Amino acid sequence: LAKVEVDLSTIPEGKNVIIKWRGKPVFIRHRTAGEIEEANKVDVSKLRDPQKDSERVKKPEWLIMLGVCTHLGCVPIGEAGDYGGWYCPCHGSHYDISGRARKGPAPLNLEIPEYDFPEDSKVVIG
Ligand code: FES
Repeated sequence: LAKVEVDLSTIPEGKNVIIKWRGKPVFIRHRTAGEIEEANKVDVSKLRDPQKDSERVKKPEWLIMLGVCTHLGCVPIGEAGDYGGWYCPCHGSHYDISGRARKGPAPLNLEIPEYDFPEDSKVVIG
């Protein structure tokens, strides 16, 4: 399937879900106001892959990205690591609540797939 539709109304604030798209995991996080604030207050110039949170989301409350570590492709674990986001147990990469690489061998931020919101409570990935 080239595109996958996800009903966002079933994902409560502060929760992650993982869906499958083109054989890869896609992480969807319904971020809290506190998490959005945290993602925005990071000094981007200090990041190894400098990206503002606003360049990574279409709606701040929905963070949607490929669940594939940019080091060697393992699937990071949610709600883990030193930066309140994801942690890849394969070689110890830490990602923040915007999915940006912060520590460990991952060279790049978690990738953002193409997606759109055809309705408020729906996202189509792909
Ligand atoms: Fe994730 Fe190596 S594959 S840290």
